[in-house]
Amino acid sequence: MPTTISNHQMRRLVVTTAANDNAAIEDEAQKLSHELNGVYVRRSGRSIKSILTTAAADRLLIVRRDRYSLHDLSGNEYQFHPNLVIVRAMNYKKTGSDHFLEAADLREGDKVIDCTVGFATEALLASLQVGETGEVVGLESVPELAVVTREGTRKYTLIQKGLEAALRRIVVLNWDYREYLARCLTSSADVVYFDPFFDETLEKSAQSIGALAAFGNRAPLDSRSILEAQRVARRSVIIKHPKSCRLPKETEDLVVREVSGRKSPVTFAVIASLRSR
Ligand SMILES: C[S@@+](CC[C@H](N)C(=O)[O-])C[C@H]1O[C@@H](n2cnc3c(N)ncnc32)[C@H](O)[C@@H]1O
Repeated sequence: MPTTISNHQMRRLVVTTAANDNAAIEDEAQKLSHELNGVYVRRSGRSIKSILTTAAADRLLIVRRDRYSLHDLSGNEYQFHPNLVIVRAMNYKKTGSDHFLEAADLREGDKVIDCTVGFATEALLASLQVGETGEVVGLESVPELAVVTREGTRKYTLIQKGLEAALRRIVVLNWDYREYLARCLTSSADVVYFDPFFDETLEKSAQSIGALAAFGNRAPLDSRSILEAQRVARRSVIIKHPKSCRLPKETEDLVVREVSGRKSPVTFAVIASLRSR
């Protein structure tokens, strides 16, 4: 299993703390700036805009005791907040229905690789489903997004303690799935999941994933990665995509079923693993 960190998508990043934070947080911010190949600057009462402009940086990571946030000069802000997934998890508890979970058909003890973890929505649903004996690894190729999500899964407190425990069990790694999957052993996970950006997603869900889209990796899912995922998965590979956006022909030919709702704008395409075909 790969363990190192991929940093090749780095932009110019500065790291600071909230205005009133203490020496321990400053220390944490300095360590993070090393981890992310960024530059640490003392906050000294300055605004986000002033720090970004003075440092000629693209992105600013603010480190706080309980959460991190990522900012840019256009006013985009990414923070970890699993609001959407709480609604989905409650809904699943009530109705026993969720299109991702139906497509993934997860069992207790399963191992899942979420190749595009983002806000960890599906990763959290998967973590609930596979339980304490299972494992969910969430990959994020943009290093600063990966640390915000990683800290979120470690620190975000939820009223529903079962959901909080499932959140804590997600392992967030800063890896590009193209490199990670290539290093994984054959049949080493049960399900491999992709939720890449599609042009349609970017246009239509600006509100729900706006900040993620501003900072995220927009490279399209390539057929080589799908083939790798089919090799790594024991059972299936799932791809989330907008209904209005067809998958490339060579991928479409691999799809064994689509799971969606009549009114839902997205669908989950299920592809069999190489082993299960
Ligand atoms: C549409 S979002 C995923 C949303 C996610 N399912 C959620 O619950 O929030 C895609 C995410 O995958 C990341 N990503 C895109 N390409 C990637 C790659 N090659 N490797 C790892 N992460 C990638 C993006 O930076 C972004 O955070």
